[in-house]
Amino acid sequence: MERDVIVACDFSSAEQLYGFLDKFTDRKPFVKIGMELFYAEGPQIVRETKARGHKIFLDLKLHDIPNTVKKTMAVVSRLDIDICNLHAAGATDMMKGAIEGLTREDGSRPLLVAVTQLTSTDQETLERDLLIKKPIDEVVMHYALTAKNAGLDGVVCSPLEAAKVHETCGKNFLTVTPGVRFADGDKGDQKRVMTPEQAKLAGSDFIVVGRPITAAQNPVAAYNRCIKEFIG
Ligand code: C5P
Repeated sequence: MERDVIVACDFSSAEQLYGFLDKFTDRKPFVKIGMELFYAEGPQIVRETKARGHKIFLDLKLHDIPNTVKKTMAVVSRLDIDICNLHAAGATDMMKGAIEGLTREDGSRPLLVAVTQLTSTDQETLERDLLIKKPIDEVVMHYALTAKNAGLDGVVCSPLEAAKVHETCGKNFLTVTPGVRFADGDKGDQKRVMTPEQAKLAGSDFIVVGRPITAAQNPVAAYNRCIKEFIG
């Protein structure tokens, strides 16, 4: 799949989502549907968004025993999404189970990427709550490699980690990177950020951009600016 800008549609109702998507009459954005919208509206929101002509990253971050994740991914694969994800912390057997479940009878499947460590987890949290004493970037690279060895297509990570993930796991291993802000924009609660252009130079394959587009005065102009900076 081609490099692209994915718009994080963190809305709580179908009405808000469609009100937002209706503004895009030219290029239809790749849409990220997360837990908030999925739990509010159920799988129908995914079917309808797909029917409107959008590619979909279903961001449900699964993390459970291998059998449960395998069976859930089999249900997810019927939704005709383009990318979905899980937590690498669920470990190898869970990730392998996910791929099995996701693979349709004809052998096709959506791309599957793993969350390594959430960007809200820092070194202190890692040591204090999770009892992981290694440096966080070493942990992220290890989780990425474990995901790769389990057969996954890539990871969700900070754009600041994208180059190192490619070094460790190869250039074809996808990096999906949130934490993107315009140079003249508001950072909000994101701490470690890059502009779309910097993310492109760092080798991100997909940038996930939420509020800089969804909360912009002119969301279509903000989206087009992202496309121009990231894709050219
Ligand atoms: O609004 P903003 O651009 O910060 O949105 C970023 C999106 O990426 C949100 O949907 C957020 O949940 C998601 N995300 C993130 N950091 C991660 C994983 C996901 O910001 N490590």
